[in-house]
Amino acid sequence: MLAVTLGPPDDAPLRFHRRLPGYEPTPLRDLPALAEELGVGQVLLKDESSRLGLPSFKALGASWALYRTLEAHLGRSLEPWANLGELAERLAPALPLRVVAATDGNHGRAVAAMARQLGLGCRIFVPRGTAAARIAAIEGEGASCEVVEGDYDAAVARSAAEAAEDRSGRTLVVSDTSWPGYEDVPRWVSEGYSTMLAEVDEALAARGEGPVDLVVVPMGVGALAAGVVRHYRRPGLADPPAILGVEPVGADCVGQSLRAKERRTLRDYRPSIMAGLNCETPSLVAWPLVAGGLSGAVAVTDEEAAAAMVALAAQGVVAGETGAAALAGLRVVLDGPGAAERRRLLRAGPGQRVLLLCTEGATDPEAYRRLVGRDPEAVAAGGAAS
Ligand SMILES: Cc1ncc(COP(=O)(O)O)c(C=O)c1O
Repeated sequence: MLAVTLGPPDDAPLRFHRRLPGYEPTPLRDLPALAEELGVGQVLLKDESSRLGLPSFKALGASWALYRTLEAHLGRSLEPWANLGELAERLAPALPLRVVAATDGNHGRAVAAMARQLGLGCRIFVPRGTAAARIAAIEGEGASCEVVEGDYDAAVARSAAEAAEDRSGRTLVVSDTSWPGYEDVPRWVSEGYSTMLAEVDEALAARGEGPVDLVVVPMGVGALAAGVVRHYRRPGLADPPAILGVEPVGADCVGQSLRAKERRTLRDYRPSIMAGLNCETPSLVAWPLVAGGLSGAVAVTDEEAAAAMVALAAQGVVAGETGAAALAGLRVVLDGPGAAERRRLLRAGPGQRVLLLCTEGATDPEAYRRLVGRDPEAVAAGGAAS
C-alpha cells in the first residue's frame, strides 16, 4: 500500500521544459541484441546522454526546481514568458540572487547551468574525492565549486548552512534530497523528472506500441525513483509495470532501508564508481513513494556497472557508470539462483518489454575511456573500437 496519495499526472514540468533552449525529447532506443541476451521480449532504453545541452537527465529536475524555488522566493508567478531570455528579463528586477546546491556532479552542474542562464550567482558543494572532470564541468558553467571534507550528506549539510548564514535571504538552496523542514524543493526536483516519462509515453503512442512491463531505474537518494513511482502508480493506469531500483553495493541506502522497513543512513557506506548513486540516506520526500511503489531493489558492483557500459557501447549507446547501472541491475536479477521467480515478479519474461532508464552519458570522459576502451564520441558515432 502506498503511504501517500497520488494525483493525476501534471504536465506543468513538460510545458516548462519545452520552452528551454535546445529542448527536444531524448531518444527511446530499441536494443534487440540485449533483449535476446536477457530472454525478454524487448529492451527499450531511454538515452539521457544528451539532455538540454548536458550529459545527464539531471537538468530536468534542477531547472524545474530552480524555477519553482524562484517563484516561491518572489511569492508570485513568473509567467508569462515564451523563452529563457524573457524569463531572465522578468527575473532581473529581483536580482542579485544566489543559488547553492550539493552534488555528486550531475545535479550541481545542471543547477549551475540554469543559474548562469538566468543571471544568478551559484556555489556548488561536492564531496571529498569528486573527480576533477566533474568539478571542472561545474566551474565551466560559471559556478564556484567547493570540495567538502566528507561524503554526500556532508556536502548537503554545507549547502544548507551556507544559505542559513546569508541573513539577506538572497541565497536559495536547490537540493535534490530532502530532510525535515526542507521538502518542497526536492519534491519539485523529482516532479521535473516526469518529463522523461511523459516523453516515453509519447514515443510509445507514436509507434502504436502499448505500455512496458518493467521499468528499471538507478537510485541515489531515490528522487528519480519516486518520480517513476508517481508516474507508473498513478490512479487509473491500466496494467502498471513492475519497477526495479538499482543501487551500488556499498551505497545501497534505499535497499537497506527497504529491508529495515524504515529510512536509514548507511553505517557501512563505501563510494562506488557510480558517482551519481553514491548516497548514504534516502531523500525524506522520496522515501514513502519508493517504499510503497518499488517492486524490488538490487545492488550492483563496480565491475557489473563497467561491464554494462561496455555492453551498451557495443550497441552504440554511450552510458556512464551511473547510466549503465540499470542494465547492470537487470542482468543481476534475471540471472542466478531464484531467477525464475524474480522474472515472474518483475514481469520480465520472453514476451515482456523492459524499459531501462539510462540516465547519463560520459559525464567523466577520461573514466569512460579507461573503462570502455573507446572514446565516447566514437561510440556515439557508431565507429569501430579504437
Ligand atoms: C546520472 C544519474 N542517474 C541517477 C541518479 C539518481 O537519482 P536520485 O538521487 O534521484 O536517486 C543520479 C543522481 O545524481 C544521477 O546523477
